[in-house]
Order: sequence, then structure tokens, then C-alpha cells
Amino acid sequence: MILSRRAVLELSAGAGLALTLGVRRLRAQARGLITRAIPSSGERLPVVGIGTREYRTGAGIDTAPLRATLQAFAQAGGTVVDTAPSYGNAETALGELVTDLDLRDRLFLATKVDREGRDVGVERMNASFEKLRTDRIDLMQVHNLRDTATQLATMREWKQAGRIRYVGITTSSDRQYDAFERVMAAEQLDFIQVDYSLNNRTAAERILPLAQDRGAAVLVNLPFGRASLFRAVGDRAVPGWAAEFDCTSWAQFFLKYIIAHPAVTCAIPGTTKDYHAVDNMGAAQGRLPDAALRRRMEEFFTGL
Ligand SMILES: NC(=O)c1ccc[n+]([C@@H]2O[C@H](COP(=O)([O-])OP(=O)(O)OC[C@H]3O[C@@H](n4cnc5c(N)ncnc54)[C@H](OP(=O)(O)O)[C@@H]3O)[C@@H](O)[C@H]2O)c1
Repeated sequence: MILSRRAVLELSAGAGLALTLGVRRLRAQARGLITRAIPSSGERLPVVGIGTREYRTGAGIDTAPLRATLQAFAQAGGTVVDTAPSYGNAETALGELVTDLDLRDRLFLATKVDREGRDVGVERMNASFEKLRTDRIDLMQVHNLRDTATQLATMREWKQAGRIRYVGITTSSDRQYDAFERVMAAEQLDFIQVDYSLNNRTAAERILPLAQDRGAAVLVNLPFGRASLFRAVGDRAVPGWAAEFDCTSWAQFFLKYIIAHPAVTCAIPGTTKDYHAVDNMGAAQGRLPDAALRRRMEEFFTGL
């Protein structure tokens, strides 16, 4: 059989990616991280990632703490990084740091498209590739259901062409849940991203079960309710019974509650601190709370 030059290039690119994914899986295993499979492919991801809503770069901005955070995150075995073109210049900051730290192959990069119209969407997504300094984005998501059908159509073309590996949709507001469910029921999605936490549990009623039924991976945003959960517990100590699920900090308490839900693939806490990234990745290790312990966590939180 004689292969064309293009076929050889495609095959070797595919083999390169397969190798990268294999190395990532071995790294996660070596660190004892809990991983979950993406239903549409079987690829496994660590159950804790990182959000970059506060990442910035530019004159007068010291990016050293962000650099240390991303480095600590990757060293702890983290791979899933969520960003968006609407988070100031977070994509540019991330592109700089990932290149500088030579982390591209280690990471699963997720970003979003958040505009109306095909041409504007194409322009916006092309800009994300440039800012992130990559020719492959792992997950492209329609941000908050903005012109969903149009943007999903482009994203699927690009998935076919190998520029994007997975497609999805996001929301962070229960006001959008009805429309979100309609899209989930009508479209074949690799991923959905939704807000879910100990003090914001509505997604567990319909969105998370529907994701399981539809075979969509789930990223969880706002896992700390934009830090409101830390404010709610104040200076209380983590309860002694949290040791039953290997939890040593409030961040791990909040994250283990989320990732113990069987529909959840990965929670993406936002952080700009290296020690918080390490703390958060600790939630991807050890035991998780069972259903009875999850109820106890809810009762504890409601009783604060
Ligand atoms: N509709 C959407 O698509 C949508 C909407 C919202 C968010 N998102 C995504 O979800 C990600 C997470 O949401 P978010 O960042 O807004 O809120 P969040 O993850 O609920 O909370 C972030 C806050 O928690 C603090 N924190 C993080 N780790 C901590 C730890 N171990 N101990 C104590 N404090 C800790 C952070 O401060 P430090 O920086 O000081 O660590 C920050 O103030 C975003 O970054 C974004 O990627 C998507």
C-alpha cells in the first residue's frame, strides 16, 4: 500500500497525539489521581482542573504568581484548563505561560465562543487559537448558549478537520437551565459545563442526570461559588468526619462533594495561587464521600 504524503503526516500527527494522551494518563496514574472517562471517547481526565477567569498579562502586571500556579498545577498532575475570550486577556496570559513553561502537550485546553453570527464566531475562535498559541484546542464550548446552533455548526466542521477535539456548551445560571436542557436533548455534545456546588445544587436535579443519559462529560464551574463557600464557613475547622473521605481542607471538602457526583467529569476551581492549586488537586486523591456522607455534607452546610 502506498500512502500519500498527507496521509503519512496525518497518521504521524495522530500517533503523536495518542502518545501524548498515553503519557498524560500515566502521569495521572503515577500521582494516584482519580480520573473519569469522557463518554464520547473514553479518554480519561483528572477530576480536578483549573479555571482562569482572573488571569491577566500586560504592562505593570506581575505574572510570576500565575506562572507558579500553572506550574504547580501541572506538577500535581492537573491537565484540564478552562478559559474564555471574555476573561479580560486571560487567553493571552495563558498562551504566554503555557509556551514559556512548555506545557502544551501536558494540558487539556478548553475555551469558548461567545458571539453571534458565523463570521464573527469564526474570527473569535481563530483569535483564541492565536492567543493560546496552539493549533489544536481540546474543547471548544458555546459560552452561555450564545447563538448555539450557528457556533456548534462551525465547531463540528473544525472538529472534523482536527482543529478541535471536543465540542460543548456552558452556562452558569439556573435561569438558562430550561434552554440548556433543550440543547442537551437535541444535540450530540461531548461536554457540558454547568455551575454546581454545595450551596448551589439545582444542577443535580435535572442537568446532571440528563448529561448521564445523553453521554456528555461534565465540567463544573463556580465550584466555590466565587469563594462564597469559604466566606460561609469562616474560620471554622473542617469537621473530624471529613477524614472518612481523606479531606484536609475546606477546598477539598467543597470539591470532593462535587466530584463524588457520578455525572461529574471534572471540577474547574479558579485560582491564581500556587498553594491553592496544590490544595485543590489534593481533592483528586484518596477516598470520595459516598451518598450518605454527601447528605451529611449538605446538612452540615445548610446548618451553618
Ligand atoms: N458560564 C461559564 O462558562 C462560566 C462562568 C463562570 C466561571 N466559569 C469557569 O469556571 C471557573 C471557576 O469559577 P470562578 O473562578 O469564577 O469561581 P470559583 O472557582 O467558584 O472560586 C474562585 C475563588 O476561590 C478562591 N480559591 C481557589 N482555590 C482556593 C483554595 N484552595 N482555598 C481558598 N480559596 C481558593 C480563588 O481565589 P485565589 O485566586 O486567591 O485562589 C477565587 O477567589 C472560572 O475560572 C471559569 O474558567 C465558566
